[in-house]
Order: sequence, then C-alpha cells, then structure tokens
Amino acid sequence: MCGIFAYLNYMVPVKRQQILDILIGGLQRLEYRGYDSAGLAIDGGQGECQDNILIIKQKGKVAALQQEILEQKDIDKETPLLCHAGISHTRWATHGEPSPRNSHPHRSDDNNEFVVIHNGIITNYKDIKLFLEKKGYKFESESDTESIAKLIKHLHSCHKNNGVTFQKLVAETIQQLEGSFALVFKSTHYPGELVATRRGGPLLVGVRSKVQLATNAFPIIVSGASGHLLETHRHDSLLPTLVDGTYPDGKTVHPLMKQLSSDCTDGSDAMEYFFSSDASAVIEHTKQVIYLEDEDVAAVCNGKLNIHRATLDDSNVRELITVKMELEQIMKGNYSTFMQKEIFEQPESLVNTMRGRLNYEKGSVVLGGLKDHMGEIRRCRRLIMIACGTSFNSAVATRQIMEELTELPVMVELSSDFLDRRTPIFRDDVCFFISQSGETADTLMALKYCKEKGALNVGITNVVGSTISRETHCGVHVNAGPEIGVASTKAYTSQIATLIMFALTLCEDRISMTDRRKEIMRGLHELPEKIEKVLLLDERIKEIAEELIHERSLLVMGRGYNFSTCIEGALKIKELSYMHSEGILCGELKHGPLAMLDPGMKVLMVCTKDRVYSKVLSGIQQVIARQGRPIVICNPDDNNVHDMAYKVIEVPQTVDCIQAILTVIPLQLLSFHLATKKGLNVDMPRNLAKSVTVE
Ligand code: UD1
Ligand code: BG6
Repeated sequence: MCGIFAYLNYMVPVKRQQILDILIGGLQRLEYRGYDSAGLAIDGGQGECQDNILIIKQKGKVAALQQEILEQKDIDKETPLLCHAGISHTRWATHGEPSPRNSHPHRSDDNNEFVVIHNGIITNYKDIKLFLEKKGYKFESESDTESIAKLIKHLHSCHKNNGVTFQKLVAETIQQLEGSFALVFKSTHYPGELVATRRGGPLLVGVRSKVQLATNAFPIIVSGASGHLLETHRHDSLLPTLVDGTYPDGKTVHPLMKQLSSDCTDGSDAMEYFFSSDASAVIEHTKQVIYLEDEDVAAVCNGKLNIHRATLDDSNVRELITVKMELEQIMKGNYSTFMQKEIFEQPESLVNTMRGRLNYEKGSVVLGGLKDHMGEIRRCRRLIMIACGTSFNSAVATRQIMEELTELPVMVELSSDFLDRRTPIFRDDVCFFISQSGETADTLMALKYCKEKGALNVGITNVVGSTISRETHCGVHVNAGPEIGVASTKAYTSQIATLIMFALTLCEDRISMTDRRKEIMRGLHELPEKIEKVLLLDERIKEIAEELIHERSLLVMGRGYNFSTCIEGALKIKELSYMHSEGILCGELKHGPLAMLDPGMKVLMVCTKDRVYSKVLSGIQQVIARQGRPIVICNPDDNNVHDMAYKVIEVPQTVDCIQAILTVIPLQLLSFHLATKKGLNVDMPRNLAKSVTVE
C-alpha cells in the first residue's frame, strides 16, 4: 500500500544528489508494500535557491522515477544545501488510475506553493473539491489527495500574510478532513520545514543528531481544543471563520513542557529528520524514532521538532524509542526474493517467536505481554479471533486447540464480515486482533468497534509500534522479524505458534491437561529442526511446480487441523501464481467440489496421522475413484497414502495441533516456484499490497 518517506537536513550540508539518493533509497525500502507509481518533491532551482519546488513523478516502479530524475539536466545536484526538506511517496491507486498526474506529491497550484504526500483515503474530498472549485481552484487529477494540497493553500490565503505557522495551517487543514490519513507537507512559504500528521495511518519520525539529545521524551504542545479554529466540519464555514483571521490564538504550552526536547546539550544545531510510514525505511539512517499518534501534528521548523495537538491524549510526551530492527534483517541476502528468504527463515523466526516464552525444560510458557491480563482472560465468556487474509487462516489453524485447551467457545471472524454483521460483542468477551502489519484497516476498525463494546482487546502482531500493537489493551508480538514479501509466510507460522502458546498458558493450572501440554510443548520445541527437514524438499517441490504449471485449477483438500493449510496454501497459490486455487474441506467433497474433478486432474491433498486421518484417506479414495491424481502431503512411510497417491510430499510427523505449520511450508514453496517459473514478481504480486490500510 502507499508509502511515505521524507528527509529534512538542518545545519548538515547535503548535496541535492545525495538528498535524491536518500529519498529514492527510502522509497526502495517501501517498495515491498505494493505500489504502482512513485514521486518526490525537492527544492528546485540552482544552488541555494529555494524559492521553488520541483516535483518529479512517474508511473510504475521506483526505478522509473530514478530514470526520470537522471533526465533532469537543469537542476544543480552538486552544491551542498545546509537546510533542505524533501518528500517522497509510493502510491497504490485508489482514486484514479496509476499515472504521473494521479501520483503524489500533489500540489496546490502551478507554482507548487504547497505539496503533500498522503497515505489513506479522504472520504469527504468531493465536498472539499466542490467548495474549492467554487473559489476558482482548478483540479488536475482524480486523486482525493489533491483536495488537501489545495485546501491548505486556501487556508493560507485566508490568513492574509499574518504570519501563521505551517503547523497551525496543517492543524486547520486536518480539521476539515474526514477519513484516514498520514500526511507530510512541504511549502515554498516555509522553506526548510516539514509538517506531518496522522489519523488512522501509521507515521513515525526518525531523528539523527551527532550529539546527545537533552531528553528522550518530546513534550506535546497543546494548541487549543478541536473545533476551536473552525466551528464545524461544514465547508461553508471555512471562509467566514478564516477570512478575517479572527482566530483566538488558543496556543497554550503544556505546563510539563519545560524546554524543547530537540535542544541539544552542547548547543549544536545540526539535526536530520526522517518521516516514514514504515520503520524499515528509516533504520539505515537512525534507530531513534518517535511513533506519532492520531491527531499529532509534528512540525520541524529551524531544525527543531515540535509535536502539537488540539487536545491532550493519554500522554504528555512522545517517547523517542530505539527500534531493534537491523538492516540485515530486511536485506535479501543470498536469496532471489524476500519471499524465498522468509520461507527459509522459518526455523529461526519460530525460535524467535518462542524465545524467552516457552521453557521446555521447566514445562512453562509465559507471554510477557499478557501476564497482567490473564485473570481477566480466564474469566471471559468466549474468545473471538478477528483478522484478514493469511492472519485469518492462522486463526482457523488454532481454533481447535484453543477450544480444546481453554474449553471456551472460540469464534473466528474475517474482519470485514465481522463489521458488516455488526456482530454482538459483550464486556466479557476477549477479542484477538491478528495482523502481521498491525495496520490492516478492516482489522483496525473491528478493534475500534470492540473497544466501544467494552471487550478486552488482545493484539497478535509482528510489528512493534504498529497501530494494533498500541491500540489493544495487551498482546503478543510474534517476533518473526520484518516480513517484506507481500505474501505472508514466516509471520503466519509464528502467529500459529503464538496462538498455541496462548492456549497453553490458559490451561496451565489444569491437572487433567498436563500430559497434553507436555506433548505440545515438546512439539513446539522440536519444530525448528523439523522445519529444516521440510525445507530440504525444495527441489522436489520445484519439480512438482513444473508439472502443475499448466493446470487450469489447483484444488487443495484436507480436514481437521490441516484445513488451515488448504485455505492458506490455496491463498498463496492464487496470490503468487494467479492460478485458480481453492482450499476444500474434505468433509464437503460430496456436497459440491467432487463435480469439479476431471479424469487426470491433479489435486493437492493433505493427510497426516491425526484424529481425522482415516476420513482424509477416504477423501483420497473419492478423488481417485473419479480418476483424479492426488499429490499428497503426508507423514513419512505412510503406506496407505503411498498406495493411492499419484505423488507424495513427506513432512515429519508432529503433534496434531502443530502439524499445520509443517504441512503449509511445501505449499509456500510450491506457490513460490509456480510464480518464479511463470516469470512473475514474487515479492509484489499484481494488485496486492503488503499492508492494506484502506477498507
Ligand atoms: C518484552 C520486550 C522484549 C523483551 C522482553 C523481556 C518489547 C516490544 N518486547 O517482550 O524486547 O525481550 O519483554 O522481558 O519491548 N502489546 C500489545 N498489543 C500487541 C502486542 C503487544 O498491547 O498487539 C503489548 C504487550 O501487552 C506488552 C508489550 O506490548 O505490554 C510488549 O509485548 P511483547 O513484545 O509481546 O512482550 P514480551 O514478550 O514480554
Ligand atoms: C494483505 C496481505 O492482503 O493483508 C496479506 O497481502 C495479509 O498477505 C493480509 O495476510 C492481512 O494483513 P495483516 O497485516 O493484517 O496480517
């Protein structure tokens, strides 16, 4: 989905060429999110001249934007600039086709007085556009974002040069916006300044300074109550309130704010700031970041960062925190794609998921993020797991073990459908929000809904500092490490392991479950080495992919714990290879799916030695009775399967509730090889995004 990256240097001489390289580098780190065009804005002109803004945009990949920059011959790329603010963006088309015109940055007018980059959707942009068109503004794109650029110019002109600050203008602008956004603004009226704000979309500020900062807590400046500057959200009210410039100033400094936190201890002013929607774009420059909260307006002026809000939220400060992510973690290394790297990382990512939590020797599981809430969780009436896509499939994978170990009713819900139904939620429900990114719009809305209903909300996320991680009452970070490939792999297996560990913690005091708990803990403990064995199947799966590449459709059948593998495997095949694929519960075969079987058709089946083993064997029989040719993922030396299968893929046997982690990996590899053989973009499948931050 869209990506934001901006860079501001203050009292640090940087050549324009370096600035462009930093911006392009940031965009390249965001490429994995999925996008279809890219753009940037820097100060144009020659030498130190900063009175105009140069916007460069291009459809397609960041490489195309880079080429476009190379062709810009008349900008001075060599003179160092002591203070400069640049913004850049990758866009995933929502309003209007992918094209330079619809790409970001969007501008206020032909002189580029205000430019803005935006993640999210402005739902009332048509009203704003209509209002501004009546004032004579001419729109040049179909994007909702353009209305923001023009609105801020309009508000600026209403102030009639009364020295309004950039921060205040942005605060006024967002009061008129409905929908979700993360925004970064730049303007010719405020050279060397950037203002960033968010509502619903993630946004962080990376801070780099050669000297120690005076404090790690940036105080929040309260700039007056919401609605103070503009009476209502009706656009007709914009003009009367603003034309006279008659706002009460409303600016009060919070008493706790003794000094601006960006003051440096030794008096040096040199500072660099990196704004991004994603920490992975910032970490190569600095590990020191501030995660902005909804309605924060972060402004850098004269090299100082201030965070303003209309009203104070739960905290007086925004902490400067150190992100632990390492650059090597997001580099491809020896792998051809991020997805391949992430599949092969699973032995290690699962160790990280369980590290410090599962103590096999002592027979204990402690989830630090939940321990203060266990009492409340134990008293709950039901557990509800809410998620989208692959994260939803991890809920399906673990529902049965949750039911068994917790003896509670467990519901699994697709976030969008959960909201569509306005599902009844009560105060004694515990709702799990499972999301790799922690930013998925539908899951976030479901979280908001459950919050309003008073349920206890638990996050299962991979991204520390993500919105779900921060907005839930408590939760568990799955610690799979950064996942860059759009198709989720290692985060999925880590989600399953985390949810199994949760089920184990909930039954730790049940004597009757002692043996079962021990068995599962052993299974988890042995998991990484068993995954290593599954990964050795890579070559064999590559050959099978060769054979399946021309199939019209790939059906993936199984039941019980392996049903999740069927739906997740089918999702991977669809996402990566664009082939039709469907996960089918074997119990449903006679109720429709058998009609799809043609003689000779190859079918993928999952049959491991668990409670439903004989039922799946009967499913295999039904397939071969219709001359289908089943390729079966099974446990080693299973003669029953060998006798019937067209081909087998043998994965080590483990405890029933963990088996789905081992059976899904061959299908992850299969989808990878199918896509590679078809010459498709494995890391960024068409029309998909890593983090779906819009409904
Ligand atoms: C934490 C530390 C970890 C450290 C360990 C040592 C973090 C992020 N984790 O891990 O580096 O090694 O203590 O004891 O600092 N949370 C939510 N919602 C979510 C996810 C998490 O509210 O979706 C909360 C948790 O309730 C908890 C905090 O975030 O308060 C950290 O969660 P998690 O990383 O899972 O905790 P630990 O495993 O204890
Ligand atoms: C998108 C991704 O559709 O969102 C999927 O392409 C992912 O891979 C889904 O499963 C849900 O994302 P998240 O971040 O909430 O787990």
